[in-house]
Amino acid sequence: MFSSIYLAILLLGASLVAGAPHRRDIARRRGCGTHISSAQIASAERLFQTNRLPPPDENSTATVTLDIHFHVVYANETLDGGFVPDEQIRAQVDVMNRDYNITGITWNLVTISRILSPDWFAKVAPDTPEEADLKSQYRKGNASTLNVYTVGLKEGPGQGLLGYATFPKDYSGQPSNDGVVILYSTMPGGPTPPYNMGRTLTHESGHWSGLYHTFEGGCTGKGDHVDDTPPEKEAAYGCVKTRRTCPKSKLDDPTTNFMDYSDDACMTGGFTKGQGTRIRAQMRTYRAVAI
Ligand SMILES: *[C@@H]1O[C@H](CO)[C@@H](O)[C@H](O)[C@H]1NC(C)=O
Ligand SMILES: *[C@@H]1O[C@H](CO)[C@@H](O)[C@H](O)[C@H]1NC(C)=O
Ligand SMILES: *[C@@H]1O[C@H](CO)[C@@H](O)[C@H](O)[C@H]1NC(C)=O
Ligand SMILES: *[C@@H]1O[C@H](CO)[C@@H](O)[C@H](O)[C@H]1NC(C)=O
Ligand SMILES: [Zn+2]
Repeated sequence: MFSSIYLAILLLGASLVAGAPHRRDIARRRGCGTHISSAQIASAERLFQTNRLPPPDENSTATVTLDIHFHVVYANETLDGGFVPDEQIRAQVDVMNRDYNITGITWNLVTISRILSPDWFAKVAPDTPEEADLKSQYRKGNASTLNVYTVGLKEGPGQGLLGYATFPKDYSGQPSNDGVVILYSTMPGGPTPPYNMGRTLTHESGHWSGLYHTFEGGCTGKGDHVDDTPPEKEAAYGCVKTRRTCPKSKLDDPTTNFMDYSDDACMTGGFTKGQGTRIRAQMRTYRAVAI
């Protein structure tokens, strides 16, 4: 899939046994199936270099406030049914505001809509009719508006995913598809540790803002197209603090970066300045944001 990135949870071991009673006890592993080939990235990056808009002024310190609309899809009015409390959503936006400080973006929660649909809760997933129905009926705002859909990702191509996002460059072709879908339980205080401190939305909105994974492209080439994120051969899971997977690299892997796969609590490296610069350039170029 060219337009979306899928962040998957791989269920480990015996947890796949049907009806595992305690979700809390299931060992999970953040994983991602990006369907963007290196050739597609190369072509997208060529276009970006051609079309890239300059900052509003040299050494710009501009900041901007962007709207967020939350769409809580639920199966019933329990947490297991996806009926997340408003406090978790507000805590999630607080996490976003701390995590995005270096980028110059402040996020402003505008609305929370609650949508009763057991079908969508279970089945909304990349490129499904349920996803198209949900987004086309509920997406709000323009290119600069972040629409977040919280769902159960229980069936079909979404089963086991933590979330997925669209890229800025895809907005103009498919505006109604634009946005981020996350597993409802990944928000702060949610029931899927170690992915319950809100970093799934930080990561997914990183893609929505124009970032690739830090391990994109492995050790060769331009990697994630950000200069100050060292190359990395593959994703880091759990809480690896120091490693160097590319033999020619003089720097340690950015395992704690938001765009790697570490546990929420271990994403202590945040976004780099270079990622902030790329986000601003992508947001100017594709989302008409003056930053
Ligand atoms: C922008 O920053 C560069 C490097 O710090 C500096 O040389 C230059 O004078 C700055 N430009 C403006 C307009 O402040
Ligand atoms: C609510 O929905 C969830 C997810 O489909 C389900 O596991 C749970 O049993 C439901 N709870 C009630 C009380 O219906
Ligand atoms: C970043 O944090 C500082 C210190 O709290 C604050 O003054 C500034 O407004 C924040 N920037 C953004 C873009 O939120
Ligand atoms: C998008 O919507 C925001 C919020 O209503 C508004 O401030 C902004 O000017 C709009 N952007 C464009 C390009 O119209
Ligand atoms: Zn990702």
